[in-house]
Amino acid sequence: MNLPQPSLGTPQPLARPRLTFIGTYAICFAELGYDVLGLDVDAQKIELLARGEVPIHEPGLDDILRRNVAAGRLRFTTDYAEAAEFGDVHFICVGTPQRGDGLGADLSYVEAAVTALVPHLTRQSLIVGKSTVPVGTAAWVEQLVGKHAPAGVEVEVAWSPEFLQEGYAVEDVLRPNRLVLGVRSPWAHEMLLAAHKGVFDLAATEDREVPVVVTDFATAELVKHAANSFLATKISFINAMAEVCEVSGADVSQLARAIGYDDRIGKKFLRAGVGFGGACLPKDIRAFQARAQELGAGEALRFLHEVDLINQRRRSRVVQLAADLLGRPYGPAGPDLTGFRIAVLGATFKPGTDDVRDSPALSITRKLRRAGAEIALYDPKGMANARREQPDLEYADTLVDAVTGADLVCVLTAWEEFRYADPSHVASLVRGRRVIDGLNCLDQPLWIAAGWEYRGMGRPTPA
Ligand code: UDX
Repeated sequence: MNLPQPSLGTPQPLARPRLTFIGTYAICFAELGYDVLGLDVDAQKIELLARGEVPIHEPGLDDILRRNVAAGRLRFTTDYAEAAEFGDVHFICVGTPQRGDGLGADLSYVEAAVTALVPHLTRQSLIVGKSTVPVGTAAWVEQLVGKHAPAGVEVEVAWSPEFLQEGYAVEDVLRPNRLVLGVRSPWAHEMLLAAHKGVFDLAATEDREVPVVVTDFATAELVKHAANSFLATKISFINAMAEVCEVSGADVSQLARAIGYDDRIGKKFLRAGVGFGGACLPKDIRAFQARAQELGAGEALRFLHEVDLINQRRRSRVVQLAADLLGRPYGPAGPDLTGFRIAVLGATFKPGTDDVRDSPALSITRKLRRAGAEIALYDPKGMANARREQPDLEYADTLVDAVTGADLVCVLTAWEEFRYADPSHVASLVRGRRVIDGLNCLDQPLWIAAGWEYRGMGRPTPA
């Protein structure tokens, strides 16, 4: 991208700008040596953080939080005036959930953050969007800034999407595999580089390079939707193969291994199972379609609708397998599973997190419950969130409690505690040795040897 050259008198970017993060993403940047202020409108969350407690389960984050709060590099507030006074670069990291009235993204948190912050700014500042947004949002934020900035205060906008995966957040922030900088001026470019100097310095000490893509707003915004759509498509591709395997007697695990050896395909994100969930992939492919439709390119992304449907069908597939294993017919309204006790192992959308948002495990559990089964749900980290989201389910405090007396065990999140559970011990606790391996993560021969009737996803029924 060719940026206009700085003119004489263009203010020089700061070597080490002070950073604010709206939506509490701040912790790792303090670890990189910056003075950081995290802002959240949730006073309870801020109180916890200020005490050194991380409100989510994210490996490694509590240590970093405590260390940096103690070192005085990291503080928290709920006060926008304080954030405006503190920061030179303000990162907007608020959520953009699916709207209640359609597929599109709800931008009200972005709007609220920008309009609350900008009127308090008193010196030249950079607002950097990190939230995942529909293309065109950065330009709209620029207009908002123009409307709300105090007269004479220069406030610029930039867009720099983040690509962090839950469970790997610390690593992904400290050692990103790339940075995407959507900027409109050399000053914004330099400021953003300065705001990431800690990332480059760390990479240099480890003899690594962090690739940087400097681009326009629209491309920066699209990168995130495109990346997540690609990942979702890859998962639905292998799950579509699982469907074909199921009707042809093939094994999708072996198929995935065999195609994954081709570097052009790669073996990552080719795990068939109950499909993708979480706070990002499902809502992002929908928001992307909605935005493309608005812009007149809806047809280009019609395949993402299919990606979504394949993903939803995997959830129903588990109910079909349950009916099959329990010997109940699957009618137009699904099966009647009344009288059976089902142990559900897993509530989070993947292991390594306590997040249950759009979790396949919870969605499947609801379906089983609706079919009349008695449920005993256990998850090593997600119980509190699952209880909040789904208070009417029956919860077990341990794996042993969940499986005791069960007619069927469903493994729906690939936690190690489940993968390495001893099938003989579990067999001694259940009423019926039937297991659905929703992630193909169990040692199939071992479970079969322990007398279990085993069903995987996209795998042939063992003889
Ligand atoms: C994702 C993107 O990976 C990340 O880059 C982006 O910033 C946010 O969204 P995350 O939501 O943390 O991150 O989860 P991810 O690890 O990508 O998994 C998403 C879902 O796909 C999970 O439900 C996971 O179980 C499922 N998945 C993943 C599969 O079903 N099969 C796979 O092979 C990989």
